Amino acid sequence: MYLSIMNNFIPISMPSITQKEIEYVNDAVKSGWVSSLGKYIELFEKSFAEFSNTKYAIAVSNGTTGLHLALEAYGIGPGDEVIVPDLTFIATANAVKHTGANPVFVDIEETTLCIDPESIKKAITKNTKAIIPVHLYGHPANMALINSIAKENGLLVIEDAAEAHGAEFNGERVGSLGDCGVFSFYGNKIITSGEGGMITTNCDDFYQKALRLRDHAMDKSKRYWHSEIGYNYRMTNIQAALGVAQLERIDSFLKRKKEIFDIYKLLLNNIPRLHLNFTSIEAKNVYWMVCLEVEGYEEADRDKLINDLKNEGIDSRPYFYPISDMPMYKRANTPVVHKVYKRGINLPSYFDISESDIKYVCDKIISLLGGR
Ligand SMILES: Cc1ncc(COP(=O)(O)O)c(C=O)c1O
Repeated sequence: MYLSIMNNFIPISMPSITQKEIEYVNDAVKSGWVSSLGKYIELFEKSFAEFSNTKYAIAVSNGTTGLHLALEAYGIGPGDEVIVPDLTFIATANAVKHTGANPVFVDIEETTLCIDPESIKKAITKNTKAIIPVHLYGHPANMALINSIAKENGLLVIEDAAEAHGAEFNGERVGSLGDCGVFSFYGNKIITSGEGGMITTNCDDFYQKALRLRDHAMDKSKRYWHSEIGYNYRMTNIQAALGVAQLERIDSFLKRKKEIFDIYKLLLNNIPRLHLNFTSIEAKNVYWMVCLEVEGYEEADRDKLINDLKNEGIDSRPYFYPISDMPMYKRANTPVVHKVYKRGINLPSYFDISESDIKYVCDKIISLLGGR
């Protein structure tokens, strides 16, 4: 983990592992409860439900399986359509495809980068069953409008909150705003369990169904009897131990994310052509990753910037590509996504990055763009 620093390279992301994480993981390993039973699983689920302000939380093996499990628990399958934003990580769409349903890609808001409620309305057909708003890069989607569209049309709302632990819309935590929420604990996320995910919900029936499907749909009172086809999407106690330690520190992670964004903002705010993360008035943005957009950039300009930064010892990454451009999916008419994706990159935004490293990153960006 410290290799990159030793090599004089500022990584885009890196987990913060302290003695607390080491202690809890050691404890889980030493206890012998190394698979998916053990005290840390229960503790992680209970604490995460409290954190998200939901009745239930179900720990799963990762965010992708969490999305798939949620869709399966709602009975979504062949012939159904699920509306997803065209700008997101591929997992959002693939989880839909894994059920046999079709993802329908819609446009985003140019400011927040989240799914555009007006585009959702236009995409609804008689086959639409659900909407998956993605709280991209830490900014919550407009859940008030999305929920009202869903209600009018009898649709489910599955929040993809993989990148937005702790974000809020109108003062309410993501994960508690739709029918269910799904989080990721991959190593670059706000908190990590190595690999891992969590489904949050307030609905008793959905909770029971998802819990059953997570464990091969084993009958509660008749061991090794299965009346439907389920999955092994369980999290291990070792992963949960890491997750619990991280969750105990989440307030400091969220505080630091905001501080990091504020430093970037201070240093890059007045530079012509540059734009950083936007935050809507209803939103608490958790700035999972700092987003930098350069006006007028095409893919080649963006790739050159990423490459030039790399040569200066700075890691960065491009925005996601429009999913509907990928060969396995159907092309969609999403002009905003197609305008935005090529002008954006994410910058190093991890807990331990120093102020002087952020300043170094900003100085290099300014000089690569030709100075002030
Ligand atoms: C928006 C989004 N959805 C879903 C996922 C899938 O999560 P995981 O990598 O834990 O499977 C990710 C993360 O990688 C993500 O960024």
